[in-house]
Amino acid sequence: MATKEIFFAGGCFWGTEHFFSGVDGVVSAVSGYAQGSPFFEGRPSYEQVYTDTTGFAETVRVCYRPERISLQTLADLYFSIIDPLSLNRQGHDEGTRYRTGIYYSDPSDRAVLEDAFASEEARIGQPLVVELEPLRNFFEAEERHQKYLDKNPDGYCHLPARVFKYLRLYQDLAALLGDEPDLIARMAETASLIYERMKFFWVGFYIVREAVGQGDCKASKSRQELVLGPFQGPPACLRIGFGRGVCGTAWKDARTVVVPDVEAFPGHIACSSLSRSEIVVPIFTGIARPKTVAAVLDIDSTTPATFDPTDALWLEKICKLL
Ligand code: SME
Repeated sequence: MATKEIFFAGGCFWGTEHFFSGVDGVVSAVSGYAQGSPFFEGRPSYEQVYTDTTGFAETVRVCYRPERISLQTLADLYFSIIDPLSLNRQGHDEGTRYRTGIYYSDPSDRAVLEDAFASEEARIGQPLVVELEPLRNFFEAEERHQKYLDKNPDGYCHLPARVFKYLRLYQDLAALLGDEPDLIARMAETASLIYERMKFFWVGFYIVREAVGQGDCKASKSRQELVLGPFQGPPACLRIGFGRGVCGTAWKDARTVVVPDVEAFPGHIACSSLSRSEIVVPIFTGIARPKTVAAVLDIDSTTPATFDPTDALWLEKICKLL
């Protein structure tokens, strides 16, 4: 099957190009300048685009194999690395050359992209400031800007380094899990890979089960409780009641809970005195509304404030693989 192309403006192209180069199914990612003014003549240089008067946006041309990765997945990945509410600014980079946009050369791509924009807008609950336009023009950037972060591993990047680690982890995990139907096996593999790659102190699952009313759960009136599932790291408490600790709160509120300082979290259950910060991500079952929590992914770190919205976003993606 022939390759297809799509153009992503996502702030500084060094990071956007590096990210999409690592996506399975992508054949090439090339940094360049797109959507310049029709009055600009010839090929723009980096310095000209830098003046912010040419209309060009730093843009990456992504060529991909549609039988290996869909445009929808590519758009979804794109939204994971931009702030779609920030106008003409991504990270520390400011100016119209750093605006965000998806530009298509195949008009039949528009419908898929409109759907992707609509679901992102619904997820965020606010109008996006990301452009969606047919591609007007695109010029490849100078050679020194291609594969910039491969050539300069310590070079500037507006994306946190963890994004590239999470992308690799996510893709490798999807391949490892394949179509294995057993949830415990999938959880065990997931806990192991996150633990190995991210070097967190404790990574594991608590699964919603019928209550037997032991330990901390004695006081809970719920018919159900969280029971320890597959994990990596030191021994942990076996059962957690509904609404108890960070895990029970994520279960009760059916949302990801990020705790920068476990001591400041009321009711935190200290399985290890070494744990300083924590994130708990709920795993939902089926398509029922309201969504039902079937389990939670719990990760502990020995350093304070380890987890931020980047971790939340990627760990939620990872939990969807389960
Ligand atoms: N700290 C968790 C309990 C589980 S351990 O971190 C592994 C909580 O407060 O829910």
